[in-house]
Amino acid sequence: MEAIEAIISRKVQRAFAPTPVEDDKLSKIVEAGRNAMSARNLQPWQFILIRDRARLKQIGELCTTGKFVTDAPAAIVVLKDLSNTRWADVDCAQAVQNMANAGWALGLGTCWVGNFDAAKIGALIEAPTGWAIFTILPFGYPDPKRPPEARPLKRRAEVVHLERVGNQKT
Ligand SMILES: Cc1cc2nc3c(=O)[nH]c(=O)nc-3n(C[C@H](O)[C@H](O)[C@H](O)COP(=O)(O)O)c2cc1C
Repeated sequence: MEAIEAIISRKVQRAFAPTPVEDDKLSKIVEAGRNAMSARNLQPWQFILIRDRARLKQIGELCTTGKFVTDAPAAIVVLKDLSNTRWADVDCAQAVQNMANAGWALGLGTCWVGNFDAAKIGALIEAPTGWAIFTILPFGYPDPKRPPEARPLKRRAEVVHLERVGNQKT
């Protein structure tokens, strides 16, 4: 899929088909994450690939607002460097967006998980001191019975302006 088409059509996916995710696709997704912009090129991230079914289930059960991780064929846990206090959140978010777009272009969906038991997941993946769990991204093919939902976007005129705020002749 073309980049622009993938970026514009991407939607979060919270239900996955059991079809396995190919290793090379997961590898490309992580490459997209590694290649995100980061302030001063500090790359304050680590990506932990989770493929083991039992671990996916354990992690999913610890995701308060992301139980769907339990049924995903793969996931990526993103760690952020706590010594980089100024921009690490922004940098990691960009890596996440790159990975979501790359996955979508490859036919795979994901959803950002914002609430989880960080201490327990950190222990499971043996996160080193000085690194926090930023998010968990499940990846999988869409469940044909529960395709991703279209979300309402703010009207273009509400958020796009020409030269000055309020001029909508774009
Ligand atoms: C920082 C952030 C945290 C989010 N946390 C959750 C979450 O915990 N659980 C969930 O189901 N979706 C979560 N989402 C997904 C959003 O609800 C979703 O991106 C939004 O509704 C827009 O849908 P779209 O991405 O399909 O355009 C999160 C998204 C972001 C950016």
